[in-house]
Amino acid sequence: MQSLQRFSLQGHTVLITGASSGIGYHLALGLAEVGAQIVACARRSDRLEELVEAIIATGSKAAAVTMDVTSGESIEHAFDEAEQLFGPIDILINNAGIADPKRFLDISEHDLDQLMNTNFRGAWLVAQSFSRRLASANKAGNIVNVASILGIGAHTGQASYSASKGAIVQMTRALANDLQRYNIRANAIAPGWFNTEMNAQFFSTKQGLAAIKQSPARRAGELDELIGPVLLLASEAGSFINGVILPVDGAHHTRLV
Ligand code: NAI
Repeated sequence: MQSLQRFSLQGHTVLITGASSGIGYHLALGLAEVGAQIVACARRSDRLEELVEAIIATGSKAAAVTMDVTSGESIEHAFDEAEQLFGPIDILINNAGIADPKRFLDISEHDLDQLMNTNFRGAWLVAQSFSRRLASANKAGNIVNVASILGIGAHTGQASYSASKGAIVQMTRALANDLQRYNIRANAIAPGWFNTEMNAQFFSTKQGLAAIKQSPARRAGELDELIGPVLLLASEAGSFINGVILPVDGAHHTRLV
């Protein structure tokens, strides 16, 4: 296989959770460009229609499927629907997530459950459904989890979020070991700061702008800068990369640890 061909996702089907905005939305567009069929998942599929139309307009295949990652039943339905449309899904971008910037002493039991149910339990259940289906079909596959640099190092006011992303980091390493025998790889990206719906409000404040200026790169990442790293992990180009947590952050993680 020629070097550039190894990056192609032609013939692969990618399911992306949390694809209705931000990082998931951009990854869907970027991975479709290199040939993947896209199953774009979110709770409100109406928000996905624009994305699906944009992908189809470029000549690639895409479909919107409703999935709430906090519900195992919703996850199973979504995979059933996706498989009916496209056959087996062989690449998973486990991206859905929420933030809850609060001080440790102010985080209620309800807050914690909501965050962990989405960021950790949700990602776990989606990875499990994906892997069980591939293993029983005897097909190879590939998981890219979306962790965070806050899963590697800590920051004040992000205790529950950091804990959830730390769990994703360890889940990634564990899955790389457990799923190797099924030819399923598991890696993660750990983004630094990217301006999305999740944090746009913070980055529009004086405090948010100052935080960006204090980071090593003195800027937030551009969403397009995540496509190449995810493609490396998700494609044949990364066939011997397994269990890796790849920061995409302009060196920000070096100052958090
Ligand atoms: P975003 O808020 O634009 O996207 C989050 C997506 O997850 C949305 O589409 C949302 O609808 C979806 N989602 C939330 N709860 C869900 C549920 N129960 N079921 C299905 N979908 C659900 O924010 P962004 O930044 O694009 O976040 C994507 C991922 O990237 C998250 O896991 C986030 O933690 C992670 N991340 C983001 C960083 C940033 O600076 N923006 C930095 C590091 C990690």
